[in-house]
Amino acid sequence: MASVTSLSDSVQQHLASALSAALPEAAGADPLLRRSDRADYQANGILALAKKAKANPRELATQVVAGIVTGEVIADVEVSGPGFLNITVADKAITENLAARYADDTGRLGVPYAAHPGTTVIDYAQPNVAKEMHVGHLRSAVIGDAMVRLLEFTGENVVRRHHIGDWGTQFGMLIQYLDEHPHELDHKESEVSGEEAMSNLDRLYKTARRLFDSDEEFKTRARRRVVDLQAGDEKTLAIWQKFVDESKIYFFSVFDKLDMEVRDPDIVGESGYNDMLAETCRLLEESGVAVRSEGALCVFFDDIKGPEGNPVPLIVQKSDGGYGYAATDLSAIRDRVFNLKATTLLYVVDARQALHFRMVFETARRAGWLNDDVTAVQLAFGTVLGKDGKPFKTREGETVKLENLLDEAVERATAVVREKAGKVGLTEDEIVENGRYVGVGAVKYADLSTSAVRDYKFDLDQMVSLNGDTSVYLQYAYARIQSILRKAGEARPAAHPELALAPAERALGLHLDQFAETVLEVAAAREPHKMAAYLYQLASLLTTFYDQCPVLKADSPAQVANRLFLVDLTARTLHEGMALLGIRTPGKL
Ligand code: ARG
Repeated sequence: MASVTSLSDSVQQHLASALSAALPEAAGADPLLRRSDRADYQANGILALAKKAKANPRELATQVVAGIVTGEVIADVEVSGPGFLNITVADKAITENLAARYADDTGRLGVPYAAHPGTTVIDYAQPNVAKEMHVGHLRSAVIGDAMVRLLEFTGENVVRRHHIGDWGTQFGMLIQYLDEHPHELDHKESEVSGEEAMSNLDRLYKTARRLFDSDEEFKTRARRRVVDLQAGDEKTLAIWQKFVDESKIYFFSVFDKLDMEVRDPDIVGESGYNDMLAETCRLLEESGVAVRSEGALCVFFDDIKGPEGNPVPLIVQKSDGGYGYAATDLSAIRDRVFNLKATTLLYVVDARQALHFRMVFETARRAGWLNDDVTAVQLAFGTVLGKDGKPFKTREGETVKLENLLDEAVERATAVVREKAGKVGLTEDEIVENGRYVGVGAVKYADLSTSAVRDYKFDLDQMVSLNGDTSVYLQYAYARIQSILRKAGEARPAAHPELALAPAERALGLHLDQFAETVLEVAAAREPHKMAAYLYQLASLLTTFYDQCPVLKADSPAQVANRLFLVDLTARTLHEGMALLGIRTPGKL
């Protein structure tokens, strides 16, 4: 079983053929079909089409209605208002459509693949070596991971790139210090935890910094190290590698806490493009895209000016010959386009870097590396704010440690899970495991459920609340269905298309049908928050359904089976939708 034609597509087809029969010049036009409160669907497009054809909209609508074959799919259609169409779908068509989704043995719930998949290189989860990860890195990781899952689900070939900050002059001081105190990071990789690794790095950084600021001779030695590093001196690189390795222990432990897969080969940091930097600059200079200005190699833009109206260039090479962030990103574009054969470059990066990416993308376009076939987009995200609406800081004014934050979320969530654990009969191990999935899920969902570009408040109380638009609410909806399925005993979920549906069943069913459309739209528009909204609505419709339709105590065995089937499909849809956001759905909660 492969993909299932959605009900809205079937209705759309019926409508389109009746429309082109009534008004031949409207062939191929969009009748603007939407889900509606008044009927199952409403088509609003006839108004504009009639206007264009200088016809009377109500008359045209009446003509279209006359041409629609009612029966199998469309049970009823009528004209309303100035020329809208209200369309009611047959109960049988709803159940049959859902049954086909339920029967899809590929586990895709009948969701088709995107029509024209390509290769997306996604740049996300890019912390910096020898530095603590902060909440901004959390956002990039969470949004990026959801985008990877969504895109892969639609059939896109996805290449992950973790562009970690592992290069720069700041390493001179660290390397010099470690060379002079070699015992400091002297341990096997397996011997330290992520937390220990970070505290080692932090201690090193602080002491090296202190020395750098107070000891002129050390400062000179540290500066010489930068030159050695850039020249590729073997011993210097070996020490630098120690910092990278130590940091990776820490990164992996945080990603692990986040219940997120990050693979070592996908970590290609800034240093990974070192060999390309000189050529990137040469290509830009030879093509005239970049020009020398006061010794530096610069790219200028007509529409990018500083506060005094002076042009702000993108500097690809500094006057001292050094390369920076821009040269690396431009080289990464060449690698991703020409070696990885990307059709889309997606950057999940803080909105505060928007100007950098605008300039980098425009430069790459001028150089011909980006064009109509290869596009680059920044999926920009906003700032994480504290409860007070100000950028998230500890009471002492320091940036909040990501690890502590996740630990606290898990701790709170575990308390919530424990409170209900007796009723469901959870073992201590299950409480701990669920607490983790609920806590991490809460953090991810809070991040994913508002449009990425907006700032959002980090409020743990709200995040683990059982009421409202939270992941816990969705996880409980899923677990409740599992509990009903366990209690069903002999009764088995089975579709009964011959049964008439209650309004709450219809509403739930029509929403389940829209999962496919939602996935494809969300992936294409890169708006994971719309998947969150879809799932929240699904859980709300389920709640209404429970209020109005008994499942195990329904009127007949056929109705029990049909309702079990409906809730089971709802559970599978919740599970898949949450999985696409990187959130687990425990079976017992
Ligand atoms: N490491 C950077 C930071 O912490 C983010 C890197 C974003 N990716 C890129 N290709 N520039 O801000």
